[in-house]
Amino acid sequence: MTKTALICGISGQDGAYLSHLLLDKGYRVVGTSRDARMSRFSNLRKLDLARSVECYSMSPTDFRSVLYTVDKVQPDEIYNFSGQSSLGVSFQMPVETLESHTLSIMNLLEVVRFLKRPARLFNAASGECYGGIRGGALDETDPFHPRSPYAVAKAAAFWQVSTYREAYKLYACSGILFNHESHLRGLNFVTRKITDGVARIHLGGQQQLTLGNIHARRDWGHAEDYVKAMWLMLQQPQPEDYIIASGSTETVRSFTEKAFAAIGLRLCWQGSGVKETGIDQHGVTRVSIDPKYFRLVEVEVLHGNPAKAERELGWRRQHTLASITAEMVAADINALQQQ
Ligand code: GDD
Repeated sequence: MTKTALICGISGQDGAYLSHLLLDKGYRVVGTSRDARMSRFSNLRKLDLARSVECYSMSPTDFRSVLYTVDKVQPDEIYNFSGQSSLGVSFQMPVETLESHTLSIMNLLEVVRFLKRPARLFNAASGECYGGIRGGALDETDPFHPRSPYAVAKAAAFWQVSTYREAYKLYACSGILFNHESHLRGLNFVTRKITDGVARIHLGGQQQLTLGNIHARRDWGHAEDYVKAMWLMLQQPQPEDYIIASGSTETVRSFTEKAFAAIGLRLCWQGSGVKETGIDQHGVTRVSIDPKYFRLVEVEVLHGNPAKAERELGWRRQHTLASITAEMVAADINALQQQ
């Protein structure tokens, strides 16, 4: 029998890659966004999926709207990507960030419980919940120490899922997702900002990039790999939470070097702090620092240990950071050439 998946917040990169995976597996895929008639669903279009996915308008923070949608769609699996996803922005919009994450998951949990549907629920939690306060690779036994309005909201949503699982025996679980990227990533995230900037430099439309803390280390993977883990999590006999991460880290500076190398420019670094610059082999300054991109509170290192997901889900990554960078730079060059 055809299974139905409801993807709440389908417009982002995860919604698009998950739709692709589930359609391939023969699912009926229904996606929601706040205003489906106005949304361009550009990521679904980029993967040529816009006609294969049914799109509904749903406000995840409005209980009636969630109840109506879940009752109408009758999903077997629900994937929750709702909520304001930028950490930097969460300091400017703390209330919107908290509400968008906590109300959306509460509404979904309550609706699943209320309708007594046997729907399985996946919630996208974040590696940011750990706050980066201890070095080394973090695993599922490490305590959360959220250090931004975004991370506080994600941690609250995580605990709601865990509470409902325990109290009401719902099949509900969270993937504690570390950074995952692709050419569908928004320009407000550092990897895509870098690859888009590098593509513009390559095509002569821009001279240099301006970044914030280039010494931050992140554990980067590819969104296409991470949605496979989400699906696997909903196919297990028992619901459990899993870290989804690559298991290794790189600095923003090193990612920048890789992106420039993809267009044949070798960066060397001069100066330090806000005076640090990246200069190419021709002596042209390509990277400079602007403190306006610094975070009010920075998580310097985020490093996840995916051993539990590898062991219990049989999850394996296909992409390396080198392949992700090359794919993103090439896609950005291609997109700019089409404009
Ligand atoms: N956005 C941005 N822009 N970040 C910059 C810049 C810049 O110009 N310069 C340096 N950075 C640094 C940030 O300070 C941060 O340390 C790092 O680059 C990564 O920033 P983002 O790409 O914005 O991602 P994030 O790590 O804050 O959050 C992402 O990963 C989380 C999981 O670990 C997002 O995808 C979250 O939604 C996700 O939960």
